[in-house]
Amino acid sequence: MEKFVIFGNPVAHSKSPQMQNAGFENLNYNGNYDKHHLEDGSTIKQTFLENSYEGANITVPHKEHAFANADEVRGLAQKIHAVNTYINENGKVIAYNTDAPGFLKAIESFGKVKSVLLLGAGGTAKAIALALQESNIDVTVLNRSEGKLDFFKNEGITSYSWDNFEAKEYDLVVNSTSAGLKDEYLPCDKAILEEAFKSAKYAFDCVYGKVTPFLALAQEKGLEIKDGEDMLLFQGVLAFEYFTKQKVGDDVVEAMRKGLKGE
Ligand SMILES: NC(=O)c1ccc[n+]([C@@H]2O[C@H](COP(=O)([O-])OP(=O)(O)OC[C@H]3O[C@@H](n4cnc5c(N)ncnc54)[C@H](OP(=O)(O)O)[C@@H]3O)[C@@H](O)[C@H]2O)c1
Repeated sequence: MEKFVIFGNPVAHSKSPQMQNAGFENLNYNGNYDKHHLEDGSTIKQTFLENSYEGANITVPHKEHAFANADEVRGLAQKIHAVNTYINENGKVIAYNTDAPGFLKAIESFGKVKSVLLLGAGGTAKAIALALQESNIDVTVLNRSEGKLDFFKNEGITSYSWDNFEAKEYDLVVNSTSAGLKDEYLPCDKAILEEAFKSAKYAFDCVYGKVTPFLALAQEKGLEIKDGEDMLLFQGVLAFEYFTKQKVGDDVVEAMRKGLKGE
């Protein structure tokens, strides 16, 4: 049986095993996906190979370590400098970032989007901003503090901190901050959101499984809203396709969604 795993710290809460194993079951694929608590991210490649894993996902806080330790990084991950997927290719560790295309797939249901206001500048924001830029969608980053903005400026992405923000009109507003995850905060000043929501049609929150204060305000202002469930699902489906070396159909995707939701 082929072994797959998710590395994280903590990892006990991860829903990836139930999602990925539901996919294997649906395909009758001889694979099993488990959790691996990893303390020291610098040992990730060695741990991956020593345990004879065929593939892995990587979650907080090891995505940058996983990037730095891979034998080869493919696709947009080379610019994002963080990866969430490892594949064992004849003893070589190949790394990908499926968060970025997973996000793009998740917002497809909104229809045509030309410009995005992206709140936050952490690891997830980097993946989302570069995915949007690569798709020729105009993206503006707005973060609480200045410190993390250099990455975006170096990629030619317009970016502001709360202190110097100059608003324009956006189709979609995305919350990629952790505000709303374990608290009831908005990701920025309410007045900024109210202004942006006047022209925007859609609001997306990377947090999943709840209507955050950000999504609640957007809904109140008449926007179409979406939480992060599809982003989590599609990053998993894309990783699953690397794991099983095949494109999968809607039946597998829906089985994985049910697995994710514990249904
Ligand atoms: N659905 C999915 O598949 C998926 C995938 C990945 C992540 N996520 C979610 O995305 C969120 C961000 O994850 P991450 O890995 O990018 O985190 P991260 O690297 O720690 O970045 C956190 C960002 O949030 C900002 N922030 C934190 N608390 C804030 C607050 N109270 N008000 C305003 N800004 C605040 C930080 O601003 P400063 O720079 O000023 O500190 C930073 O820009 C988390 O909620 C995570 O669960 C979802």
